[in-house]
Amino acid sequence: MHSLFSTYIEQKKIAITAKTLSQLKWTASQMPAIDEVGVKWSKKNYVGGYTSYDSISRVDLQFSVFETLKKKIDLEVKKYVKKLGLKFDTGSLELSSMWVNVMPKNVYHAFHIHPLSVVSGTFYISVAKDGASPLRVEDPRAAMFMASPARKMQHDLKPKNGDLILFESWIKHEVPPHQNNEDRISVSFNYDWINR
Ligand SMILES: [Fe+2]
Repeated sequence: MHSLFSTYIEQKKIAITAKTLSQLKWTASQMPAIDEVGVKWSKKNYVGGYTSYDSISRVDLQFSVFETLKKKIDLEVKKYVKKLGLKFDTGSLELSSMWVNVMPKNVYHAFHIHPLSVVSGTFYISVAKDGASPLRVEDPRAAMFMASPARKMQHDLKPKNGDLILFESWIKHEVPPHQNNEDRISVSFNYDWINR
């Protein structure tokens, strides 16, 4: 029996101090107050929540605590692409965007991919133990099953505070409606193959 074309998704706790985690939480919580453009964009595109995706899309360049986090994520992405067996003979894999997401109760983010990137992921700053939305991923073979009998095609990854999840950017994913009164706060990012 061969098990071929495995899909690797990393989920691990990374070494972030409690102090750094609370600074990340504080900074992320303050962002809507200083990001008028992002709040406006979120009203249309992230209903009920706040994301800096379209406004402050390099939080690591704006806030030193996110720069600290980015350096740790860089190391994890390096290990992840090695596990995947990806090689970049020219250019390099670099962080291209990093944005904050604040989801109050009932906010969701429908299925999507990150088409221009190689590796994407999220670091979880504040996720309640009960009712916090998982990250739901879809079987990448879903479009090819045709006449095959129905099978489980989605899997929920349940992150905890301080967890990092990494996946290849073509993996379809969503965040179903958040079910806790405490905001679900995370920071997502893309790594692109850059050839200068
Ligand atoms: Fe995403």
